[in-house]
Amino acid sequence: MTDDEIWDVVAFLRVLPTLSAEEYRRGEDGRPPTAQPDKNEASKARVGDARAGRNALQQYLCVTCHAIPGVPGAWNYVGPALGGIAERPYIAGVLNNTPENIVRWLRSPSTIKPGTAMPDLGVSEQDARDIAAFLDTLQEGP
Ligand code: HEC
Repeated sequence: MTDDEIWDVVAFLRVLPTLSAEEYRRGEDGRPPTAQPDKNEASKARVGDARAGRNALQQYLCVTCHAIPGVPGAWNYVGPALGGIAERPYIAGVLNNTPENIVRWLRSPSTIKPGTAMPDLGVSEQDARDIAAFLDTLQEGP
């Protein structure tokens, strides 16, 4: 990242705790923070890759809200800690925990659970599959 980009992230992290989920979703200029998902994406996407998923987590700021074992900077508790997520029966208490459902959740939490505090982040189909593959590696520790 350039110095300017780093300062943008610092500024964002300072205001993040003051934003409601609605404000976060809207973004500063009234538009959603990222592009809307492309409907044809699903057919183009390859099978999920856990390593790519671990990197994609950074891009979508998952780390600003979740504690995620083995991911630098991920020690926040706005949302549930994701360690052991692979063994939990439900996603956000409402959806059976399968890889396909994790992809659906990541693509649009508000569709699955209206009013949830997890924002729609514009995660692409491919990135959602990669992240789901990574989350599937997060077993509960001994
Ligand atoms: C602005 C904060 C925020 C961001 C950013 C965020 N989440 Fe969440 N996440 C939450 C909250 C809050 C919940 C709990 C939602 C609920 O139960 O309604 C949640 C729930 C989840 C769950 C279900 C956890 C469980 O125990 O059932 C998963 C999986 C998840 N998030 C993954 C991610 C991933 C991956 C990203 C990045 C693509 C991400 N989150 C980005 C706040 C966030």
